[in-house]
Amino acid sequence: MKIKIKGQLLDVNAVWMEGFTLKAINQKLLPFKFEILETQSFLEVTRWIKELNVRGAPTIGATGAYGYVLAAVEAKNYNREKQLQFLNEAYKRLLHTRPTAVDLKNALDYMHTMANISTHPEFLKEKAEFFVNKILEQGKQLVAHGSTLIHENAKILTHCNTGPLALVDYGSALGVIIYSFVHKKTPLFVWVDETRPVLQGARLTTWELTQHNIPFSLITDNMAGFLMNQRKVDLIIVGADRVTQNGDIANKIGTYSLAILAHYHNIPFYVAFPWSTIDLSLKNGNSIPIEERSAQEVLTVRGIPVENQKEKESKKETETVNYYYITAPNTPATNFAFDVTPHELITGYITPAGVFSDINNVMRSYKDAMKELSWKESV
Ligand code: MRU
Repeated sequence: MKIKIKGQLLDVNAVWMEGFTLKAINQKLLPFKFEILETQSFLEVTRWIKELNVRGAPTIGATGAYGYVLAAVEAKNYNREKQLQFLNEAYKRLLHTRPTAVDLKNALDYMHTMANISTHPEFLKEKAEFFVNKILEQGKQLVAHGSTLIHENAKILTHCNTGPLALVDYGSALGVIIYSFVHKKTPLFVWVDETRPVLQGARLTTWELTQHNIPFSLITDNMAGFLMNQRKVDLIIVGADRVTQNGDIANKIGTYSLAILAHYHNIPFYVAFPWSTIDLSLKNGNSIPIEERSAQEVLTVRGIPVENQKEKESKKETETVNYYYITAPNTPATNFAFDVTPHELITGYITPAGVFSDINNVMRSYKDAMKELSWKESV
């Protein structure tokens, strides 16, 4: 992705490897501060994923694959048996960081299968790059397909962050919007759900839209229904963290409510994703594991004080991003990070092979792609 930081143009991915050092944009600090994280330790990678320094289903998958490579480097002087034990442990630790996005499991399963052929770090790095390049290729394909749904002056509502940050580059749902505006020059307008509690919409989607001068307005999550009722939303596009056999999807908490609102108001509701987000092992969404995160995320917001922002503008100082309680610190709170939207509420699926309203066509294309990609031994 091409981004402008303090007047300088940078061309970076959300996560990448240089030699055997893993680098990633620290998504936790955006939009206040642009920082590149670096590590050579797979345990540090587990922290990045858990703490949302890197997030978004396909980016999490890519980070997991690279994390596995770092584990192979750490194990390189062990005998083969000990290496495999170490990699087994690394696989489990990386996998258990975040349970809902199946991209992580798909990436790690692929890397683990490859380790049976060779545990050589160079070999595994090549395989991780292959996996990530496929995600990138699919991102590029799906945003182009999705853009056929965007008519001139469309008012699009989106949830969470599904831009290049979330898919290594290109993006999924937000990628469709960016591609339509930047490459196809389609005039459009975006309603950005803030996406409580971690505010991926308010922090990251607004940052990515600003990078491309795309017109948007940030809204609180509970404004969506009112806007739909006022006919101010033409279509909704969201991403996914897991897509099951029957077309049910898990995505960021709040997606289900949006889908119900869209259904009631007769507004098309699309879901965009690459192949790494498909889970053929589950028949439907009922058994998708839903991540429950710390109550602290609900009790707090992260940001900068209003007065510091003014100071920053006048003195050009570097900002410190802090946590602030929005209620009494001991308030009981619940934090489900995802919900499941049943296929009945989904108008269409935006995939690397095209836009489909019938999930059977999605799965057929997925199986064809898997034959060629051989991420899995058989599907
Ligand atoms: O908790 P997050 O920020 O990782 O959740 C991200 C989402 O729910 C995205 O919508 C999804 O991963 C699709 S990203 C292309």
